[in-house]
Amino acid sequence: MKSLDNLALKGKRVFMRVDFNVPLDKEQHVKDDLRIRAVLPSIRKVVDSGARLILASHLGRPKGKVLPEYSLAPAAQRLSQLLGKPVVLAPDCVGPEVEKMVAQLKEAEVLLLENLRFHPEEEKNDPEFSRLLAGLADIYVNEAFAASHRAHASVEGICRFAPVCAAGYQLEKEISYFQKAMENPRRPLAIIVGGAKVSTKLGLLENLIAKTDYLLIGGAMANTFFKARGLETGKSLIEEDFVEKASALLKAANKRGVKIFLPVDVVVATEEADGGQAREVPVEGVAKDMKIFDIGQKSVELFEAALKSCGTIIWNGPMGVFESPPFNKGTFAIAQFMGTLGALTIVGGGDSAAALRQARAEDKVSYISTGGGAFLEMLEGKKLPGVAALERC
Ligand code: 3PG
Repeated sequence: MKSLDNLALKGKRVFMRVDFNVPLDKEQHVKDDLRIRAVLPSIRKVVDSGARLILASHLGRPKGKVLPEYSLAPAAQRLSQLLGKPVVLAPDCVGPEVEKMVAQLKEAEVLLLENLRFHPEEEKNDPEFSRLLAGLADIYVNEAFAASHRAHASVEGICRFAPVCAAGYQLEKEISYFQKAMENPRRPLAIIVGGAKVSTKLGLLENLIAKTDYLLIGGAMANTFFKARGLETGKSLIEEDFVEKASALLKAANKRGVKIFLPVDVVVATEEADGGQAREVPVEGVAKDMKIFDIGQKSVELFEAALKSCGTIIWNGPMGVFESPPFNKGTFAIAQFMGTLGALTIVGGGDSAAALRQARAEDKVSYISTGGGAFLEMLEGKKLPGVAALERC
């Protein structure tokens, strides 16, 4: 992949695909600007080199319709604050008006195009749409790691039409950290996986048992593994259809010598709203009318003891319902502990990143990925279409 550093940028028009698909609050302000802050170095590089910058992104899933609540206006406003200069929002991402605004753009000016997904052609990877987008600039830069698992027009198709294609700094960084962790890790390598569902992470687990030394499983997805071990799980979230697969996975891991760590105790309550009644019980002691909402203290200790000796740790998915105290303790304990280790520590996925922030451990891990689905697909061992397209250029 070509790098931004190898390009002559002065006076050029640069089309940079970013992922400003950020959470907004009720007042339509950016609630979490990690994805915007992460691409500032690339933006500054282009602007400081005297190029004309055209930024493009999607926000949410408006499904090809112009829906004002999915406007990129809040992102333009936040970016402008962070950059300390105006960021003009175009009324669309293609068409005569946009072309006129692009033509009038002066050196070091920044234009943000309106939501790409207001056009159905974006998600269809429509070649004509890709061609129109590419036609706006001299250089295409993919700085949207978090969207690079989507073979969409502004991510994949555009590389067929852009005269020059390059990777942004953040995209390069995401890939290089990932390679460091997965291809030649300092061992032992531990993967911590949590979150609600096994079904969404099965591919990843199957891929990881060929690579990792330790697999630590928490969150509601551990319930399906408890069931596979014949334990009572009460009224907890279970994926019945995946109990057999979970069982097969445990066997396969065993065969490969991967050490699996499942919680030994859990925090239960009758309902999520009944946090006041929460109590810790051994995994063998979950009553029929109870639901599991977090891992217990003994599990935290077990996980910490395993992680202490590791050279590399990758974490995706919370250990419990961390948005609802007191069910945040397991997730926060793991987040804080990761921050104390000398290992290479990589965290991916919106929930884990949010948990790190809430546990004030954000600055203490080696790297937080901006990717959700893209990070998971990398863990699954898949090649991201956006990255493959850049490599072909
Ligand atoms: C994400 O938030 O993971 C990316 O922006 C991709 O969004 P999508 O899942 O709607 O394609």
